[in-house]
Amino acid sequence: MKSPLRIAIAGLGTVGGGVLKALDARGAELAERAERRLEIVAVSARDRKKTRTVDISAIDWQAEAAALAASDADVVVELIGGEDGPALALIEAALNSGKHVVTANKALLAHHGARLAALAEKGGLALKFEAAAAGGIPIVKALRESLIAHGINSVRGILNGTCNFILTNMEKTGRSFAEVLKEAQALGYAEADPALDVGGGDTAHKLALLSSLAFGTAPDLKNMFVEGIEAIAAADIAYASEFGYRIKLLGVARRVAGGIEQRVQPAMVRVGSPLGDVDGAFNAVAVDAGAAGPFFFEGRGAGEGPTASAVIADLVDIALGSFEPAFGKPAHTLTPLTPAPAGAATSAYYLRFDVLDIPGVVAEIAGHLAEAKVSIESMLQRGRNPGEPVSIVMITHDTPQAAVGRALKGIATSDKVVGPPRMIPMETG
Ligand SMILES: NC(=O)c1ccc[n+]([C@@H]2O[C@H](COP(=O)([O-])OP(=O)(O)OC[C@H]3O[C@@H](n4cnc5c(N)ncnc54)[C@H](OP(=O)(O)O)[C@@H]3O)[C@@H](O)[C@H]2O)c1
Repeated sequence: MKSPLRIAIAGLGTVGGGVLKALDARGAELAERAERRLEIVAVSARDRKKTRTVDISAIDWQAEAAALAASDADVVVELIGGEDGPALALIEAALNSGKHVVTANKALLAHHGARLAALAEKGGLALKFEAAAAGGIPIVKALRESLIAHGINSVRGILNGTCNFILTNMEKTGRSFAEVLKEAQALGYAEADPALDVGGGDTAHKLALLSSLAFGTAPDLKNMFVEGIEAIAAADIAYASEFGYRIKLLGVARRVAGGIEQRVQPAMVRVGSPLGDVDGAFNAVAVDAGAAGPFFFEGRGAGEGPTASAVIADLVDIALGSFEPAFGKPAHTLTPLTPAPAGAATSAYYLRFDVLDIPGVVAEIAGHLAEAKVSIESMLQRGRNPGEPVSIVMITHDTPQAAVGRALKGIATSDKVVGPPRMIPMETG
């Protein structure tokens, strides 16, 4: 057997702890797969006194993560997190010192991925990140190596388990976003500061990586529309259900005429469709791979076991000397993303207006929609408590987003409409 692959790990929390545990439990089997032992030679975390998932007393401890770049490791695994700071310093130092890098850090790669990929390539080194997008689902490898023959038309994913848990529970219980968020925090499904998850930022980071892998473009967060789930009302979820839909936070990257559309947005997905039936904290990715057909991947996007599974798959590839450019193509061939023309995305839309229950209001809304050439497929009206606004809900036919936007702008100025209109795209499963 070849000499062991020497591994240094920075960050021993959920993911790092999972990696230690899995290597400890399945070291012998993994050595057979990797044709060499996977040996942890150094670690770093914040608190040396903390109890870890396995005994690390015999492993070299470094108080400064960056010091791992100067260790005798072959590969540095960055599992600290954060888009800059010690994580970025460590990865740069490791690549500059001739060490392969494995990371689960989507925020960092979404911002610095193209530059780091070039740095890795310059040194003939691996930069691998299977755990960074959709956790345990092997979607990075699938897009980078497997689904390449015919090109990718679209990648659409439920990429944040916290949001999916919240939306699933809002539907099951009829409760508000705020109430379900509180419960998710108590159960450990949501962070104390949930902004990055519920605001769509975490999904955006993952989508930037998947989009780059799919379309051969540099990860691009600037040309991405991002909307979170905070404004989703219990009423929208109930109406969705009446029409046979569920609301999911989707990351969508799609090749359209004139460029690539990238958006993170709550969307209506049909109940009974693959994306519509992804429950609770699960993640899923639907890929339209042209002549190869549609593919659907579902699994756990977070947690110790799934993320460790992805990190170890990357380590075994490195041990075998099997690694491609980080984003599937040489870094200098990653092109800047050409964004799809603004407002050109076409879809059917769910629209909800809360209006004063007075004559002429429906005609006024219909007038604005007709003027913008938005036609309506179905409509319902609810709520008739004296003095309270009523909700008018409409589903449009397929319409360019810009046209619906124009109509809503006009409708929002009406003195009969209470609060901002709600607009949610309908996605096919
Ligand atoms: N959790 C998941 O399910 C998941 C899924 C996919 C991707 N990821 C990504 O994986 C990365 C790690 O996430 P995690 O959930 O494992 O985080 P975590 O549980 O908070 O663990 C972070 C670890 O980093 C250590 N650390 C913090 N600052 C450090 C520093 N300056 N130098 C060295 N070590 C430092 C902490 O040390 P102490 O233990 O001593 O405090 C801790 O061990 C992040 O990029 C995250 O986005 C996580």
